[in-house]
Amino acid sequence: MKLAKTPVVAVLAVFLTLSAITGHTTENKVAVASAHPLASHAALEMIGRGGNAFDAAVAIGAVLAVVEPAGSGLGGGGFWLLHRASDGFETMLDGRETAPLAAHQDMYLDAEGRVIPGLSIDGPLSAGIPGVPAALVHLAEHYGKLPLSASLQPAIRYARDGFIIGERYRRLLSFRLPQIQSSPAAAAIFLDNGRVPDPGWTLRQPDLAKTLQRLADFGAAGFYAGETAEKLLKSVKAAGGIWSQQDLDNYRVVEREPVKGTYRGIRITGAALPSAGGIGLVQALNILTEYDLTAIDAVTRKHLVTEALRRVYHDRALYLGDPDFIDVPVSRLINPDYAAGLRSTIRKDRSLPSVMLSGDIPEQAGGDNTTHFSVMDGEGNRVAATLSVNYPFGSGFVAEGTGVILNDEMDDFDSRPGAVNVYGLIGGLPNAIAPGKRMLSSMSPTFLEDDERIAVLGTPGGSRIISMVLLGILDFADGNGPDSWVSVPRYHHQYIPDAVQYEPGGLSSEELQGLEKLGHRLRETSYRYGDMQALQWHKREGRFSAASDPRGEGLAVIRND
Ligand code: GLY
Repeated sequence: MKLAKTPVVAVLAVFLTLSAITGHTTENKVAVASAHPLASHAALEMIGRGGNAFDAAVAIGAVLAVVEPAGSGLGGGGFWLLHRASDGFETMLDGRETAPLAAHQDMYLDAEGRVIPGLSIDGPLSAGIPGVPAALVHLAEHYGKLPLSASLQPAIRYARDGFIIGERYRRLLSFRLPQIQSSPAAAAIFLDNGRVPDPGWTLRQPDLAKTLQRLADFGAAGFYAGETAEKLLKSVKAAGGIWSQQDLDNYRVVEREPVKGTYRGIRITGAALPSAGGIGLVQALNILTEYDLTAIDAVTRKHLVTEALRRVYHDRALYLGDPDFIDVPVSRLINPDYAAGLRSTIRKDRSLPSVMLSGDIPEQAGGDNTTHFSVMDGEGNRVAATLSVNYPFGSGFVAEGTGVILNDEMDDFDSRPGAVNVYGLIGGLPNAIAPGKRMLSSMSPTFLEDDERIAVLGTPGGSRIISMVLLGILDFADGNGPDSWVSVPRYHHQYIPDAVQYEPGGLSSEELQGLEKLGHRLRETSYRYGDMQALQWHKREGRFSAASDPRGEGLAVIRND
């Protein structure tokens, strides 16, 4: 076994667990990378009990709902990209939230048609109908080897017994403090006497433990009906939300065919709509494939990647939304000939202002959120999952007696064509709100494969997810491994705002000068963003490597024997 990025506590936790797991055979081979050591730990526990990567994914997702409540949870949604080794079957579990039936296109606008600040971000009116509970049940029942009651055990344990919070928890809680304080149930759980807890504080969530136990006992009905549903609906309605029992009854996980593409001998399997991720990545790589990025100088490489991203995010705003509600020209968007047309508008010696792609441009800052994990077992089953409650701690609202923090994923719809969301993303009618519709996402769980290697990767990070995964893929194409993909300095462009956003240290002074000369506006972010979790299988050597983003508090673990 090898540990990557090893905080002392995490090493100890994994060591203790592994010492309790017996029978290390080749079936015990596993690689996992997640945003929290306890979640990675849970994956090992499932493999040790005879489970596969899908059981591990159930356990990881459920533990993250407990130990990383700022990023994901039972009150949120997500996408699980699956590869089943026995027959090579690949699918994406779409557990994205849906708009309540009482939702309507103008629900966040005032009488003059202006977006009411905060309404789609804070409180239960901002929450879509959660998909994570249904997806955990679906994953366990259709792909796992263990009963749900076994794979939910680690999460129930950590919710009941508690765990010591990390610095990320404190930082994100401080960021959402007013919203948490305005929900009495949230404040009672996440704050220490109304304040952000000191380091070393233990977070216990007994109500969430009971909610998870009902899910373990009764499957989807343990969340979408009965006691949990009653409590959810009562609290949501009392606080001005619009959920109904019919919304909960109607919720369904959808299996969707992943988006596929190729880039210089690498096969890419990406997220399907309602994620913009798979389409965006394939489109960007199709544009970039004619350039020899490995040989090109650093400024030109970053300029070309930026120009590809500008065009990808422009198309996202024009065309993408829930495919069950609108027609999206997916095959055209991922067609290499279409990309060739876009490429022909790129000049190596000059940037193209976004205004040349489309009209008047509002601007707004970006954000950070969500969670990702990657896991693969010794048989070759693999899961890339990106899960979210949207903004840190979602809507900030907890339904009394459930311990469940509700998402604010409704903000990922376009409240008004031309308006920007909390990530500064612009959109239009394809992503307008409609009852039962799923909001467009950037979450981009991804598989890569060439003759030598298989990779599983993804990251949180709002609108910047797609560019982070793209930089990871380009680094894979350069021949580097997971340690490098998760560490590459990050920069981003999303068409609007018309600026290259870069994390501190993301661009060298030479690159900044070079990009400025080409006409790019440059904007440094206030912090290093993303939390990529990645693993690689080396086909010839029959071994794993894995890495957890140095910007986060996660843990990658591999066991090669
Ligand atoms: N809530 C962030 C995303 O889905 O893109």
